[in-house]
Amino acid sequence: VVFETSFSASKAVAKEIAELIRLKQTQNQLCILGLATGSSPKGLYAELVRLHREENLSFKNVIAFNLDEYYPMEPDSVNSYVRFMKAQLFDHVDILPEHYHIPDGTLEKDEIAEYCKLYEENIENYGGLDLQILGIGGNGHIGFNESGSLQNSKTRLVALDHVTRVAASGDFSGLSNTPRTAITLGVKKIMEAKRVILMAWGEGKSAIIKKSVEGEISNKVPATFLQDHNNATFVLDQGSASVL
Ligand code: GLP
Repeated sequence: VVFETSFSASKAVAKEIAELIRLKQTQNQLCILGLATGSSPKGLYAELVRLHREENLSFKNVIAFNLDEYYPMEPDSVNSYVRFMKAQLFDHVDILPEHYHIPDGTLEKDEIAEYCKLYEENIENYGGLDLQILGIGGNGHIGFNESGSLQNSKTRLVALDHVTRVAASGDFSGLSNTPRTAITLGVKKIMEAKRVILMAWGEGKSAIIKKSVEGEISNKVPATFLQDHNNATFVLDQGSASVL
């Protein structure tokens, strides 16, 4: 779906999420959301905060699982995804602190595999993700599932691609300070979400959006796996859709 601007697109995605949260409230059910970081969902989170403040949208029935976190990473570090999510959303709405989950960047290496297994089991125990929000990396990564990630890949520690580290290096004041690894939800759990919305803005994303939507399904571009999902939408602006 192509919108005039990322602003109108973000508002539409927020509206869909708000409707889902409210529907679950009327059914006395929890709403299980998979959330993403990066610049792309910032407008969505701003709109959700506005809906909370101005239109009484409550997040008390929301359980959130974030896609990924750099490893190693302290939660209070400037570039942590914990900090990002609190600043963009969690600190401004009434979600219960025990209801949001972000992969733990402070684990010992030998604890990670078991932790990742439990992260997935936790999602399964809630009945899976009702809706997964995604951005997309310039190389087609979703979460931190880089090129080469398999369609049935699990939640795990991954090595970041050079291009991903270069893209992040501005935030870390240089490539040498940029993490080399991250913990990411695997492609399998993303694909199991009942609904997936991938957001991408600007001409800089247009080439990878074309490959993801029109290219052949391949683990070279993990976002192409979404072509196989029965309820996935790419929400684009004029720029990111410009070469489709
Ligand atoms: C990081 C995140 C991804 C995100 C990507 C794109 O790599 N781990 O989940 O989709 O950045 O970021 P942006 O939205 O800033 O382009």
